[in-house]
Amino acid sequence: MAKKIVIVIFLALLIIAVIIGGIFLFLKLRPQTIKVQPAVFETGTENYCILFESSLKGSGYVKYTYNGEEKTVWDATSGIIATHDTVHKILVPKNELINNTYVVGAQHVPFKFAYTAQKGDVCESEPIHFRGEEKEDNIKILAITDIHEMEEDVKKAVSFFEDDSDIVVMLGDITSNFEKKEKFTDHILTDAAFLSKGEIPVVYTRGNHETRGEFASQLLSYFPTETGEFYYTFDFGALSACVLDAGEDKDDSHEEYSGLIDFSSYRKKQFNWINSLKAADFTGKYKIVFCHFPLIDDHFGMNWMTPLKEKGFTLIVGGHHHKSELFEREITAFDACGKYKDGWAASSITLSKGNIELLTINSKGETVLSETLKAE
Ligand SMILES: [Fe+2]
Repeated sequence: MAKKIVIVIFLALLIIAVIIGGIFLFLKLRPQTIKVQPAVFETGTENYCILFESSLKGSGYVKYTYNGEEKTVWDATSGIIATHDTVHKILVPKNELINNTYVVGAQHVPFKFAYTAQKGDVCESEPIHFRGEEKEDNIKILAITDIHEMEEDVKKAVSFFEDDSDIVVMLGDITSNFEKKEKFTDHILTDAAFLSKGEIPVVYTRGNHETRGEFASQLLSYFPTETGEFYYTFDFGALSACVLDAGEDKDDSHEEYSGLIDFSSYRKKQFNWINSLKAADFTGKYKIVFCHFPLIDDHFGMNWMTPLKEKGFTLIVGGHHHKSELFEREITAFDACGKYKDGWAASSITLSKGNIELLTINSKGETVLSETLKAE
């Protein structure tokens, strides 16, 4: 009898061991792939932020050689390499990335315990050459707004522009809501990777639709900016820029928001920040504001244009209105268009010889707007 019990226990333990071993083997054998190729985001600091997605959760890194030294920079916080996410966020000094070649990689980490971890497949991207040259003139900006998930039209429209942009600006409402994280990875990250090929910097400006849904409150964790908010300043050669976050387009008390937003406080905080900026810090020949709402001279009772004009800004570029138009206000405002009644359109902004050339082309290849402004 006792012998039978021992045999049964032994067989039970063997079956459990086989099942556990099988699970571990299955997890280890699952292929890790780069699901969304990298895009290099502006942060307003001395670092660029490289974002990409792998098919399975785990660790992520960027590799490159700088001054003859091979470097691996991890997606890490306070010394701990992150393993909980499929999206990887790596900060790389701008001066080490400009005109350099990099590779991103990820390793599947199914389990991370207190004293050990289960590690799986590793994958890496092809080498990518990052240009990012901060030019002193002839800067070409590809301005993209209000995609609202019309990616097929985006591909058609951008095919009518020269493939020589120096920087991509995504002006918000790239997706229509953040009910799920996939809206971030499948639209903002995927579109940023498509538009920039990981070769030039991307500036992200939050749109009002990107404040909606549960994931919206987590979005900022992927954008480690100068201020810790979606608004910040940056210089790119002769361009001095201010990125703003106008928030929602209706009062906080609107029934759509279910009492779960507080843009009233956020706008006041941002307005104080705008007023605290110093004109002397914006030394570029071209001074441009990027904001999803280009018309901010009566923004929920606040005039954001006046302090920006005092800092020397001469143009605000945004979207939201779904029509290609120049608005003559205290600061000239430009809607780079995106989704509109006849389809979808993209814009280029060329900064050259003291002029700002605006060109909007739709997905049929038709020129919707062509204007030239003085930079000062
Ligand atoms: Fe909008």
